Amino acid sequence: MTHNSPSLRRRLLLFVALPLCAVLVCGAALTYWLALTYANRVYDRWLLDSARALGQLVNSDAGRNELSDQARILLQYDPFDRVVYAVRSTRYGLLAGDRTLPQPKAAAPQPDPVYSSFRVGDHTMRMVSVLITNQDDPRDTLVVSAAETVRKRHLLARELLTATVPIEFALIVIAMALVWFGVNHGLRVLDPLTREIRLRHAGDLSPLRTDDVPLEVQPLVATIDALLSRVEKMLAQQQRFIADAAHQLRTPLAGLRLQAERALADPSPGTVRDALTHVERLSAGTARAAGQLLALARAQAPDEAIGAAKPLDLAELVRDEVAARVPEALAQHADLGYSGPARGVRVLGDAALLRELLGNLIDNALRYGRLNGMVTVSVQPEAAGEVVLMVADDGNGVPEPLWPRLGERFFRVDGSASDRIGREGSGLGLAIVREIAERHGATVDFGLGLEGRGLRVEVRFPAMAAHV
Ligand SMILES: Nc1ncnc2c1ncn2[C@@H]1O[C@H](COP(=O)(O)OP(=O)(O)OP(=O)(O)O)[C@@H](O)[C@H]1O
Ligand SMILES: [Mg+2]
Repeated sequence: MTHNSPSLRRRLLLFVALPLCAVLVCGAALTYWLALTYANRVYDRWLLDSARALGQLVNSDAGRNELSDQARILLQYDPFDRVVYAVRSTRYGLLAGDRTLPQPKAAAPQPDPVYSSFRVGDHTMRMVSVLITNQDDPRDTLVVSAAETVRKRHLLARELLTATVPIEFALIVIAMALVWFGVNHGLRVLDPLTREIRLRHAGDLSPLRTDDVPLEVQPLVATIDALLSRVEKMLAQQQRFIADAAHQLRTPLAGLRLQAERALADPSPGTVRDALTHVERLSAGTARAAGQLLALARAQAPDEAIGAAKPLDLAELVRDEVAARVPEALAQHADLGYSGPARGVRVLGDAALLRELLGNLIDNALRYGRLNGMVTVSVQPEAAGEVVLMVADDGNGVPEPLWPRLGERFFRVDGSASDRIGREGSGLGLAIVREIAERHGATVDFGLGLEGRGLRVEVRFPAMAAHV
């Protein structure tokens, strides 16, 4: 674990803390808005009462042009806000008060009180207007307007805000603490799993127990289980391979020892010579087997070890390889030839591995082919961009029922225990071919060879675009 690894705890907290802070800000804004709404409602009511009271006083006043002291006190006694009023008669115009006060917005005077807001300089003012009938003149109506600045409303809203924000903040801190506690506690459900894996024996690849694993972690456990089972399969395969390989090497080594004992027991030149011939053949076979084991290991190496596949010209590669093996074929009295385009057949692949593949196929064709026989190698581009590499001979071939087994490690067809030139194969050649083909996304098929005899091996490479 490094300090840079992402922390689930930190992440969870961050995901909770940021939205909570946003909630705090929104909450504060909402509180302020609500407080202002209610403050407006309360003070509007108060303003309306003042306007109505003023209307009564105006009606009962004789002079009308002048407000009584009582009315003046009623209106102007306000420690926070500036209060202005106006009494207008629909017939006689402004009777008293401030003429700068605007007329109510409603087009015609209405029975219900009309509220409005307007700005005077830096101040916002709230105004209410009510209608009352003029008691002296029943055909006249009085519009009484009272307006005030909104300072005390904002003061009240701000007061409410300063009272609630610390409470909200405290709640959020408590929530965060609970989340912290919950996360810590919640993460503890992983402890049994960690303990189980830690206490495991190195060779124990059985699936993990999942009864006390939380639901959310089960996909992870399933992935680990899948990995474990793959590793187990690979280990078993490797162990079988090592056992097989040891067995394969033990047989020729026992043979070598036997020949040496024979020569020691009877030092006559004839016996020694015969024993040495055997020794030479056995050691060549063993060397071949060791080489094949190495080649198989190379073919199975993880992808990055051989480098990424590059586009290459398969026709050119195959033609070169065939040309290089013609002298060997001649020495074995076989007619080895290439048919197909000289160049320009592109596949994605690793040249060294493909040479290894082809080498094994040519090797088999020459070894198990007929004396003075033919071996044909061809590269053929097919429809849809596929490319087929084929090696065919006209020897004895392999009985069709055994074709599916060709490519099994150490599988050899009975009766071909030693080939035409007396060397024993190790039974790995076609396994190597299969392995390399698989790495190139290619398939391997077997069929009858030339003129209805022998064996034909076809390696079908996918189209270049489809491969990657
Ligand atoms: N062209 C062929 N004609 C007839 N039999 C073949 C041919 N190719 C392969 N076989 C049979 O298939 C068996 C497996 O071939 P493979 O190349 O895997 O192993 P090998 O040739 O015996 O050993 P290696 O190639 O590792 O030295 C051979 O032993 C042989 O019996
Ligand atoms: Mg072979």
